[in-house]
Amino acid sequence: MDYLALAKKYKTPLYIYDFDHIKAQYEKLKREFNARKSLICYAVKANSNLSLLKHIAALGGGFDCVSIGEVKRAILAGGSNYKIIYSGVGKSDEEIKEALNLDILMINLESYEEMLRVELIAKELNKKARISVRVNPNVDPKTHPYISTGLHKNKFGVSIDEARKIYLHAHKSDYLDPVGIHSHIGSQLSDISPVIEAANIVSSLLKELRAADIDIKFFDVGGGIGIRYKDENEPNLYEYAQGILAALKGQDATIICEPGRFIVGNSGELLTSVLYEKRNTNKRFVVVDAAMNDLLRPSLYEAYHEIVALKDGAKSPCDVVGPICESGDFLAKDIELPRLEHGDLLVIKSAGAYGYSMSSNYNTRGRAAQIAIESGKDRLIGQRESFEDMIRNEKEFI
Ligand code: LLP
Repeated sequence: MDYLALAKKYKTPLYIYDFDHIKAQYEKLKREFNARKSLICYAVKANSNLSLLKHIAALGGGFDCVSIGEVKRAILAGGSNYKIIYSGVGKSDEEIKEALNLDILMINLESYEEMLRVELIAKELNKKARISVRVNPNVDPKTHPYISTGLHKNKFGVSIDEARKIYLHAHKSDYLDPVGIHSHIGSQLSDISPVIEAANIVSSLLKELRAADIDIKFFDVGGGIGIRYKDENEPNLYEYAQGILAALKGQDATIICEPGRFIVGNSGELLTSVLYEKRNTNKRFVVVDAAMNDLLRPSLYEAYHEIVALKDGAKSPCDVVGPICESGDFLAKDIELPRLEHGDLLVIKSAGAYGYSMSSNYNTRGRAAQIAIESGKDRLIGQRESFEDMIRNEKEFI
């Protein structure tokens, strides 16, 4: 890739997404489920760029959303309403109402209390709400605690007992139609056996519900497939799919999975320019024009992202840091880079997932520009945020 030309054309910091790689990842996963009816609902939170969503919709993908904003993004990008799932522990009345009016595939319930609200709102609208229940199977996904979601100490989903109560109520309700069952236990899993364990637990409940004449059509195993940032094991997709298929043996249901990171993580990079090299006595810092507001993962999770310099030379240890006034504003610590000068480029790898979507305006820094590379051609898919963009909601009040 001609990073120099891209930096010249679009400036930095710049998010670059490889649409061909996104397609390849999508198709690789879809193929593993060929034996059964399946739907890949891409997790919009990983990267919600509209053109990227349009690309996935064109491949036949559905969408896993966690706010009404994400639902509307997916629809705006050409996603089919009937392939949209809406999860989240705290949906507001307004969000529930909009989701029902948009007639999406299902609202994924995360508490008994939420079911009562959905029922009430569906009644007001004179609709029957298609729902699923997010089961928290109390399985340890063995990942970073901030992205672990499948234990009872986490706020997500409901226990098996609570789920049973919700299904029994929904089954009898004139305003609820239980069509799905769901679990998602965590993200960036190198070992996917906990997902299989969860699928088996949820599948037993599915069997029980069917015996009670509750006709669940969708079996949703969530997301979580890990990727390689450094030297992590990448889960074997064949074993992943076979494990889920085996858990569902003898039961007819459409399998849904909700990959985010797997589809876009290694399809994206963040291109940044060196502003200065500086030294505080013995400590070497490379100050770049991207910061924690562009890519929060290193600061928030101490996540590792490989950084490649487009230059040779003798390497020495340094921290790569941004211009934000926080000591936690770093993109890498203690990595080896050659001597760099103002204007040299660095590529931050594996930045396609939870990169731009977690970016902010902290320090009144505009969000980066975003481009797609497809069949060797580059195109702008997200304008760099201007000062005017950032003050739009406040300006009229001064
Ligand atoms: N489905 C549900 C219900 C989820 O909560 C998530 C992610 C996914 C699917 C997609 O998971 P994935 O396939 O991407 O692992 N910001 C963190 C990740 C948070 C994940 C939250 N939920 C990070 O930067 O690592």
